[in-house]
Amino acid sequence: MDLYEYQARDLFEAHGVPVLRGIVATTPDEAEVAATELGGDTVVVKAQVKVGGRGKAGGVKLAHSPAQAREKAEEILGMDIKGHTVHRVMIAEGAAIKEEYYFSILLDRANRRHLAMCSREGGMDIETLAKERPEALAKVGLDAAVGIDDAKAREILTEAGFTADEHDALAPVLVKLWDVYKQEDATLVEVNPLVKVEGGSIIALDGKVSLDDNAAFRHPEHEALKDTSVQDSREARAKAEGLNYVRLEGEVGIIGNGAGLVMSTLDVVAYAGEKYGTRPANFLDIGGGASAEVMAKGLDVILGDEQVRSCLVNVFGGITACDEVAKGIIGALELLGDAATKPIVVRLDGNKVEEGRAILAEANHPLVTMIETMDGAAAKAAELAKA
Ligand SMILES: Nc1ncnc2c1ncn2[C@@H]1O[C@H](COP(=O)(O)OP(=O)(O)O)[C@@H](O)[C@H]1O
Ligand SMILES: [Mg+2]
Repeated sequence: MDLYEYQARDLFEAHGVPVLRGIVATTPDEAEVAATELGGDTVVVKAQVKVGGRGKAGGVKLAHSPAQAREKAEEILGMDIKGHTVHRVMIAEGAAIKEEYYFSILLDRANRRHLAMCSREGGMDIETLAKERPEALAKVGLDAAVGIDDAKAREILTEAGFTADEHDALAPVLVKLWDVYKQEDATLVEVNPLVKVEGGSIIALDGKVSLDDNAAFRHPEHEALKDTSVQDSREARAKAEGLNYVRLEGEVGIIGNGAGLVMSTLDVVAYAGEKYGTRPANFLDIGGGASAEVMAKGLDVILGDEQVRSCLVNVFGGITACDEVAKGIIGALELLGDAATKPIVVRLDGNKVEEGRAILAEANHPLVTMIETMDGAAAKAAELAKA
């Protein structure tokens, strides 16, 4: 689960990482009240969307009075930033920035360890920095049992080119950011920028945190951080139904049985879709031994998704017999009635394939196309998603 900046700010604060005061507002009125409450001559109005580069997109603006904070909030609320609509802003205290640095801790899956990255050149897009001036970005592997203690923090800072007299202010902040990473079971804690302000103190000005969903059972308190937007509620519903579902960005809904088969179906559909500019819309594994009812639930979740334009059902009958799958498809379409408007391509093979195909042929539903091969079915579904 990715967090909003204001949620990351709160976690940082709870672990003693220095942050500025910030108040969330959902209307220009609330923004004005928040700015009054913060006081000072400058506040910053910041779009709260789960995407980087808000500053460049016009989603971070300075305001020099509560009235101006209201105006800026009015401009930013409702704005679209890289496909994310801004529903909230955070009104934050303005910092008198002297220098902007970069610091992150992440799970380095390829090398099976945790990794700290640090640079004197923060604020800008880190991917660009990593590509254009990799020498300016220090990467230091972390021992999971030690993490970042004072010595490790100083090693990271030295690697990044900070002089010894700069270490004293920065090292404790790095240690506390490790506390956030470890104690909250995060897979990413990124601060960009980590700033030095007038007077020399260090502040985490922007935070990005991803929490490890596999550790959610250890953190009942993280439940409250969950988003209630439409997109996430679809995943929540699928989860409540016991479906293994992940929403993606494309147009072709995918249902299959077995994670391996579903993964390869995503690949084949992505490949077939290159021709039509269409991509898989989700991962959905109905598992082995899935009943007609589970199939119906899966179809319901996928067909109800406004981004989906076609659906591919790819089942290899093992424990799940193809006749059950076919019944599930027909049953779901009956349940949905007129609400079902999207074409469904079905590829069945394996256990009871003849029975399954016979059921679909018999029903002769106008939305259902049967195709015998996986490649053929993927190509058809990708094409239908374009129309
Ligand atoms: N509270 C603040 N006070 C002063 N300047 C800020 C503040 N927050 C952000 N900024 C400035 O805006 C830039 C972009 O803000 P940031 O929060 O990093 O958003 P993003 O990374 O999404 O662009 C920062 O690099 C910093 O220069
Ligand atoms: Mg930033």
